[in-house]
Amino acid sequence: MNILLFGPPGVGKGTQGVRLAKTYGLRHLAMGDVLRSAVRDGTPIGKKAKTFMDAGELVPDEVVVGLIEECIAGDRGKDFLLDGFPRNVAQAESLDSMLDRLQLKLDRIVFMDAPEEELLKRLTGRLICRACGFGFHRHYSPPQKSGICDHCGGELYQREDDREEVIADRLRVYQQQTRPLLAYYARQPGFAEIDASGAMDEVFERLKQVVSG
Ligand code: AP5
Repeated sequence: MNILLFGPPGVGKGTQGVRLAKTYGLRHLAMGDVLRSAVRDGTPIGKKAKTFMDAGELVPDEVVVGLIEECIAGDRGKDFLLDGFPRNVAQAESLDSMLDRLQLKLDRIVFMDAPEEELLKRLTGRLICRACGFGFHRHYSPPQKSGICDHCGGELYQREDDREEVIADRLRVYQQQTRPLLAYYARQPGFAEIDASGAMDEVFERLKQVVSG
């Protein structure tokens, strides 16, 4: 089963994507993570992407479409969960043609939504481990020791684009470019919409219901 999760920044795509991928044995293909890893490695793509990411803008389509095709085609035997791609209608159209070429399809397309006030709280409190990438939240899932990862002892940091002024730009870009995907996908087979507000476990239960349904 191939799954697509989409929704606004901070709605919980990454958090729930990890859980779903583990439960259903999927490859978790998170475009934000792929790009951040390219930035960390200082690759030419990473250098190009960084400016856009730091400003809360979308990285150009030609860069991300090529990257996602490599990821999807990389291990065709295993089903996948897409998180963070596509992010505009042009990317969705590219994904459709790519999947046709690879003789693959999306079985579940899930739109996750939550009030903007909740998204802001989630994003401004997010902390990530520099060493293992595990995500925490200052209030909702704090580490046992402040600033230290429970799993590997690594240092926790705040993402550059999780500063309030950048979040405002990301939410604007979401409304203008990504939200129109709702109309694009709403009539496709396998589409479902869930309320992603509330506790992480509650959201996960809602997701499992629509994924298994
Ligand atoms: P990306 O990393 O994909 O960022 P995003 O879509 O803005 O999503 P986030 O990672 O911020 O949020 P999320 O929904 O995954 O929430 P999470 O689970 O982490 O992209 C970053 C940038 O890369 C983009 O701005 C763009 O520049 C570029 N990019 C990426 N894809 C691209 C594309 N296709 N095209 C062009 N450019 C692209 O949760 C957030 C926090 O909330 C965490 O701390 C978590 O612990 C907490 N939390 C989650 N769920 C709950 C809950 N139920 N209750 C309480 N806390 C919760």
